[in-house]
Amino acid sequence: MEKLPLHVGLIMDGNGRWAKKRLMPRSFGHNAGMNRVIALAEHAQKRGIKYLTVYALSSENLSRPKEELEGLYSLFRKYFSENVKKLYMQNAAVKIIGDMHGLPQDVAKLLKEGEENSPQNATFTMVFAINYGSRGEIARAARLAAESGGEITEKTLEKYLYTGGLPSPDLIIRTGGELRLSNFLLYQAAYAELYFTDVLFPDFTEKEFDKALNEFSHRERRFGKV
Ligand code: IPE
Ligand code: IPE
Ligand code: MG
Repeated sequence: MEKLPLHVGLIMDGNGRWAKKRLMPRSFGHNAGMNRVIALAEHAQKRGIKYLTVYALSSENLSRPKEELEGLYSLFRKYFSENVKKLYMQNAAVKIIGDMHGLPQDVAKLLKEGEENSPQNATFTMVFAINYGSRGEIARAARLAAESGGEITEKTLEKYLYTGGLPSPDLIIRTGGELRLSNFLLYQAAYAELYFTDVLFPDFTEKEFDKALNEFSHRERRFGKV
């Protein structure tokens, strides 16, 4: 493959509908989705991608029913106490973007530890967007930049975004058929290539991921030039 994205963003949508089709509770779909995340992280790293950012919970998702949220928190607990070690063994680092204050304390602690215990000199970074929303992120960055004094430029603003230090995503994939970004990386996606698929996230296999990479490799990115 000629052109490979350095950073891929993934909006993992469609878990609830996938479960509904099977007459199962939404949590069943989230469970299946988590297994996909584990497999896709390994696959992306093997393919030579350096950053994979997965949208796991939006700030708006926090208004979902308590039972669904509890199920999601339990999945985060499970992932960050078990699977994260496998990432470390593959020399992958973990980074969290989002507002940790809105989460149960023990979950926030696990996520923080997941980040802190990451290997130094990792060759791949798995970024989890949890209780994340771009508008809140931009407002926060503007506030922090203003408080620090000095001129507010793109450079200073970028430093204060949750994604400070990460390259912008080259490719954003959304599963589940909706044609929108739902408050995901709005600033960072300025020149990202967008790929939408009807495939529901629990059915989004490595092969489907490769289809998106293949499509990306044929896109002409002009960045405003001729
Ligand atoms: C995406 O799947 C996962 C989260 C938002 C946590 P959904 O739960 O939105 O699934 P659908 O869109 O209802 O099928
Ligand atoms: C976006 O999916 C958020 C995540 C995938 C975590 P939603 O299902 O919340 O988005 P909308 O409500 O369809 O825009
Ligand atoms: Mg959805």
